[in-house]
This record gives sequence, C-alpha cells and structure tokens, in this order.
Amino acid sequence: MSTAKTPSGKSSGRGTRELRVRVKTAKGRKLSSTLWLERQLNDPYVQKAKLEGYRGRAAYKIIELDDKFHFLRPGVRVVDLGCAPGGWTQVAVTRVNALGARRGKPQGHVLGVDLQDVLAIPGADLHVLDFLADGADDQVKAWLGGPADVVMSDMAAASSGHKQTDHLRIVALCEAAAYFAFDVLVPGGTFVAKVLAGGAEMGLLTMLKKNFQMVANVKPPASRADSSEKYVVAMGYRGVAPAPFVDGPDADDVDMGASHT
Ligand SMILES: C[S@@+](CC[C@H](N)C(=O)[O-])C[C@H]1O[C@@H](n2cnc3c(N)ncnc32)[C@H](O)[C@@H]1O
Repeated sequence: MSTAKTPSGKSSGRGTRELRVRVKTAKGRKLSSTLWLERQLNDPYVQKAKLEGYRGRAAYKIIELDDKFHFLRPGVRVVDLGCAPGGWTQVAVTRVNALGARRGKPQGHVLGVDLQDVLAIPGADLHVLDFLADGADDQVKAWLGGPADVVMSDMAAASSGHKQTDHLRIVALCEAAAYFAFDVLVPGGTFVAKVLAGGAEMGLLTMLKKNFQMVANVKPPASRADSSEKYVVAMGYRGVAPAPFVDGPDADDVDMGASHT
C-alpha cells in the first residue's frame, strides 16, 4: 500500500498499535449501533485515515487499486462519481498532480459529483448532482469540458436492508457510470466501479470486456471481507460504440490478498 504524500503530510501510520477497544452498551443505543461503533474504533483503516488526513477509509480502496493498476498518473483527467465525503478525490488530486505540486510533471484535473454536498478539496472541482437524474451525464460533460482519461465510480445507494434490491441498485448505478464512460473516455482510458457480487453484474462485465482491452474483478484488501462489494477495473478503452448488455462470462478475478475483516 502506498504511503506517499498524505493530505496531512503526516507519517504513514505503519506501526500504529492495534489496541482493541470494547464499547459498552448504553441506554438508548441499539446493539447494532454499539457493534458499528466498536468496529469503527477497531478498524485500522479508520485509524490510518485519521492519521493521514483522509476523509474516510474508502481512500485506501482506490490507493490499493491504483497501486496495482496505475491509472492515476500525473496529468490525467478524472471523473469521480459518488465522491462524498471525498477520500477517493483526495487521493486522485495528489496522484494526478491536480495542484501542480510536483513541478515538471503534467497537471491533471479531478471532477467529483455526489448527491451530497462535499466540503471543498483544493484541486478538485466538486458538484452536487444526482447522477441518475435526466440529463445528469450531459451536465457532467459540460462541467468537464472535454474528454476524460479515468472515470471512477464508488456510487452506492443507501442500503434498503434487502440484499437483492441493493445489488440491483448498485448495478444500475454502475451501468449508468459505464455508459457515461463510453461517452467521455479517451481511447486507452480507464473505468473503475464498485459492484456487489450477486449475479446481475454479469451483463455489465461482458459489455466491459468487449469495450476494454483488460477487465479485472478485484476485491482490494481495504474492502471489508464481510461485504459483497468488489470493484471492476477496465483498462484500455477501445473507443468504439458499446455493445448491448447480454449475459455472459465473468471478468478475470485478480487476487489482491486478504480483505480486512
Ligand atoms: C461509498 S460512498 C463514496 C465514498 C467515496 N468514494 C470516498 O472516498 O469518500 C457512496 C456515495 O455514492 C453517492 N451516491 C449514491 N447514489 C448516487 C447518485 N445517484 N448520484 C450521485 N451520487 C450518488 C452517495 O451519496 C455516497 O456519498
């Protein structure tokens, strides 16, 4: 995992002692809330994010994916869909050199959108938008003002508590992001998106395989082992009109080591 240039400029957090915190049940607090709090307090990625100045543990998912696939290079233009609270955006700003901090390296650009307001991140162009709303893709294209090298989506609808419904919703978000990517990516561009394992993503993966030179199915270690979340990384956009969705074989699974529990 990369530890270079954290937003706070602090150390990597490597070597942080992992003391287990127990949270007592409290009057008025549900057991599920107590267990959530205990998991947060004991999660090394949560602690590391605090130390390194990231807005959430999700930052480490894109760090791990980029350390493996190297799509966030200085000078690239990135669209970050579902960017709140901003961890992925923070990572992208640094890695694409959006602030021009690395002299002599090309300066990139990061555009983020989310349903929710996001506190400003220097170097990023952030907008509140429902990406599933009519005309949302045209709006993002207008803000972008040109092609993108990377489209990444960590969009996830709030959990309904019903696994299959959540799965279908996330696939719908992923498909919307993929069609947008087909529209704005330069040939050779990269598409990264969150999916939930559950079956309905097969058509999407097949379509990505037709339109990209390489499609990988990845579970980064920062993604919790008890979550059905995984990511598709599609690289080498062929720059042709997308084939329709059809059921078909899965993408290649890439082993990134154990997930965090
Ligand atoms: C897991 S969070 C993203 C975390 C982010 N990558 C980070 O590093 O901070 C998922 C986000 O998707 C956003 N989202 C869900 N549906 C959306 C939609 N239709 N349009 C835009 N954003 C959406 C949610 O508001 C939420 O902030």
